[in-house]
Amino acid sequence: MKILVTGGTGYIGSHTVVELQQQGFEVVIVDNLSNSQAGVVDSIKKITGIRPHFEQFDLANSDKTSEFFRRHYDIKGVIHFAAFKAVGESVEKPLLYYRNNLVSLMNILDSMIANNVQNLVFSSSCTVYGQPDELPVSENAPIKKAESPYGNTKQISEEILQDTIRSSKIQTIALRYFNPIGAHETALIGELPLGIPNNLVPFITQTAIGLRQQLSVFGDNYNTPDGTAIRDYIHVVDLAKAHVVAVTRMIEDKMKEPFEVFNLGTGNGYSVLDVIKSFEKVSGQKLNYKIVDRRAGDVEKVWADSTFSNEELGWKASKELDEMTASAWKWEKAYRAKVSQ
Ligand code: UFG
Repeated sequence: MKILVTGGTGYIGSHTVVELQQQGFEVVIVDNLSNSQAGVVDSIKKITGIRPHFEQFDLANSDKTSEFFRRHYDIKGVIHFAAFKAVGESVEKPLLYYRNNLVSLMNILDSMIANNVQNLVFSSSCTVYGQPDELPVSENAPIKKAESPYGNTKQISEEILQDTIRSSKIQTIALRYFNPIGAHETALIGELPLGIPNNLVPFITQTAIGLRQQLSVFGDNYNTPDGTAIRDYIHVVDLAKAHVVAVTRMIEDKMKEPFEVFNLGTGNGYSVLDVIKSFEKVSGQKLNYKIVDRRAGDVEKVWADSTFSNEELGWKASKELDEMTASAWKWEKAYRAKVSQ
């Protein structure tokens, strides 16, 4: 059973490739390496014993995409991760984000239709909910106006998918991720942001290892118990496993609608200070941080109602916050030791 994983050398993609291979799927990766490294393929092989087939090209190139699908006409499903994801950069370079994220999706859909590939799992985001009126937020909550071009690409992508499904045989599961953190237990793959990290956990681990001087905590005057913003952090391996469940559901023809949406979160909200405390506990070291102003565009609090995913997919996130921060720290240490050799 051959599955195409676009963005398969990236953070969530690489963890998903491992879980797919371990469940017996044959994986083909396409990635343009714009935000990841080819060496990830070797690391995947170290974990699973199987080297996934890898092709480096840009899915925004329609000729290369259709040529790829013609050769791999026996693909049974596509898990589409490949996209730009930096919120701040998307505000500065909106056209780059719209072109990359939307054109690649449309090229994939064209090729799927042409080659009769029907199953697509799409990486969506809890960003589509904005600041929800009710918490925890369920899949039925209204879609709020996107705060950034990045967020808008996720909303528009979901719309493109719904329209395409109406006029073709394609079926889609859109997975709305909350905040994936942590790394594989082997510490062979993990999150590897290029340059200064935007996200909380890589910034914490890079500060602790001495690459960054100090973590800035963006705001302590939110309407939350400790004043810092709350998110639903989910271990990346739990998230990866949900993709295997989703693709299996499609292949086994168990979908109830041709377009299904699932929240992928734990259902627990943790504040920025909770994450820092957890990190300090598992690492045994104090973190250098200071409170600064709020970051523009941040929502105050969001966590998932994961009832629907738990019941309908039979999937549940199992890893606790300390396990997430410990695995992120183990990965950071292992990676820095490797690159300093
Ligand atoms: N934070 C800090 N300091 C930092 C980085 C983050 O205090 O240096 C705080 C943020 O203000 C926020 C929390 O940590 O309260 C989590 O921030 P992240 O940047 O790790 O994650 P976000 O919730 O902002 O972003 C996530 C995904 C994005 C997605 C977004 C939608 O990483 O891809 O959710 O809101 F677009």
